[in-house]
Amino acid sequence: MVNIIFCGFGDEMDKRVLAKQGDVLLRVAMNNGVTIPTECKDGLCGSCAVKVEELESSPDVKGFESTVDPDAWDKDKYTTYMEDKELNTLVEMGAISKKEAETAQQYAQQTPIRLACQCIVKGSMLVKPFE
Ligand code: FES
Repeated sequence: MVNIIFCGFGDEMDKRVLAKQGDVLLRVAMNNGVTIPTECKDGLCGSCAVKVEELESSPDVKGFESTVDPDAWDKDKYTTYMEDKELNTLVEMGAISKKEAETAQQYAQQTPIRLACQCIVKGSMLVKPFE
């Protein structure tokens, strides 16, 4: 199980929840009462875009530390393959650049903006609305 922290969705929806690795982020949100706008649920409309940040829990530290460092991404730990469909949608809606999409494909990284309906939970993460 991993921790998913929803932040910025509103008082009642800002919470930390447990999720199974391999679950879809949108389903985790819905199952825990967090509303993320959706239309297609198929990676095409972009309405479920969210900002994501990988987190790592530490038994020695209360809370979480961000481990996001674009220059030193722990590829083996956080390898997340993003489908072309998701990357194309994110580029078309201007959420990421074409270069970011190419880098994500090349290095099997995830971009800081994801489509919740396409995002498979790999590890603990902080999720914020994309505006
Ligand atoms: S709901 Fe349309 S891309 Fe996720």
